[in-house]
Amino acid sequence: MPESIQTHPRNTVPDANPIPFPQDRSCPYHPPTGYAPLREAAPLTRVTLFDGRRVWLVTGYAAARELLADQRLSTDREHEGFPVQSERLAQVRNRGVALLGVDDPKHNIQRRMLIPSFSVKRIAALRPRIQETVDRLLDAMVDQGPPAELVNAFALPVPSMVICALLGVPYADHEFFEEQSRRLLRGPGAEDIQDARDELDAYFHRLIDHKRREPGDGLLDELVHQRLASGAVDREELVSLATILLVAGHETTANMISLGTFTLLQHPDRLAELRTGMGEGQPLMAAAVEELLRYLSIADGLMRVAKEDIEVGGETVRAGDGVVFSTSLVNRDGTAYEAPEELDWHRSTRHHLAFGFGIHQCLGQNLARAEIEIALRSLFERLPRLRLAMPAEDIPFKPGDTIQGMLELPVTW
Ligand code: HEM
Repeated sequence: MPESIQTHPRNTVPDANPIPFPQDRSCPYHPPTGYAPLREAAPLTRVTLFDGRRVWLVTGYAAARELLADQRLSTDREHEGFPVQSERLAQVRNRGVALLGVDDPKHNIQRRMLIPSFSVKRIAALRPRIQETVDRLLDAMVDQGPPAELVNAFALPVPSMVICALLGVPYADHEFFEEQSRRLLRGPGAEDIQDARDELDAYFHRLIDHKRREPGDGLLDELVHQRLASGAVDREELVSLATILLVAGHETTANMISLGTFTLLQHPDRLAELRTGMGEGQPLMAAAVEELLRYLSIADGLMRVAKEDIEVGGETVRAGDGVVFSTSLVNRDGTAYEAPEELDWHRSTRHHLAFGFGIHQCLGQNLARAEIEIALRSLFERLPRLRLAMPAEDIPFKPGDTIQGMLELPVTW
């Protein structure tokens, strides 16, 4: 006779040695030290979420690519098996998210409407505008400093101004939507997230009305006058698309600029090497941006739920299981990268998963690359003596349950 014939739902079987996910980093550019045992267990292992639920954590590079391309995994946040990282997110899981929270075929329809605006060619045409924005912000910082707080003076306004121009959102409203994005991504409470969504919804409804009366030349204007007018997209969907583009368009890149700067200042040899090949169009700078994206993996913890059973890496992921991808571990998988802990501008990093993979791979990646490259190059060229204005270990950075980056970055020159 078996000891017990009671069937436990798989996700609630107690784990003798549960490893919580996510955890805070102890150094802002390395994966949390508490993830060390997970690396041994690659490519796929179990972790415990804040509510005690056990989910799969994918840490191996090959398994991550295979699974992220597998449409038996869903991003539908309303599916009861969809993993949630924190209490505050659990309480707002029923609010729909365009693109990222939608499976194909609907996802494909939404994405196809936006792809032309983020193509390599369109972003190349935006470069002079990005450069102008960066130069203007550096002028203002130099006029007022030293010292400066780099997140607010530079890292956040660069992508914020650029995404506003691209979408046709008035930058004059930036304090409002930066605050709403912050509450959306970091709370602190569930009511912050709920409230921020309501505020952004109301804001975009007003903006759409305004654009119907007075057309401008941003992506939202195009969507209002072509797609909304023809019925290809409805108003709620358009508001949801605008929200994800605005939020994803500035919070992520801002973190790469602040954390990228911090990381370069903490690696003076790598920075010195980079200075020798930093000029515009130099391949070393583009390679450094890719390597920083891999090394920092700021979007750590991509979430999915299995719609069917999937065999992968010698394990069976069952329908209904939650699956989480730790990009910071995947991008440091020793089978994919030699000496993955080293920051090395000369490795081939092109296939890192910092922008995800598969149908949801980052829509804004060309834009993000251009912004990071122009921002970092211009910052270090303009301020060759740039350094931290307080000890590195005293500078606060973001907790593990959100996009990684610096909360503040006091610098001088
Ligand atoms: C360095 C900066 C950025 C990083 C590291 C980043 C990272 C990511 C990742 C990992 C995903 C996939 C998420 C998943 O599969 O669950 C994603 C999706 C997305 N990103 Fe980015 N992102 C960045 C910048 C941007 C920018 C500038 C935009 C501009 C609009 C943007 C818009 C989006 C959108 C719309 C999606 C959803 C795509 C889809 O579901 O088809 N991101 N991003």
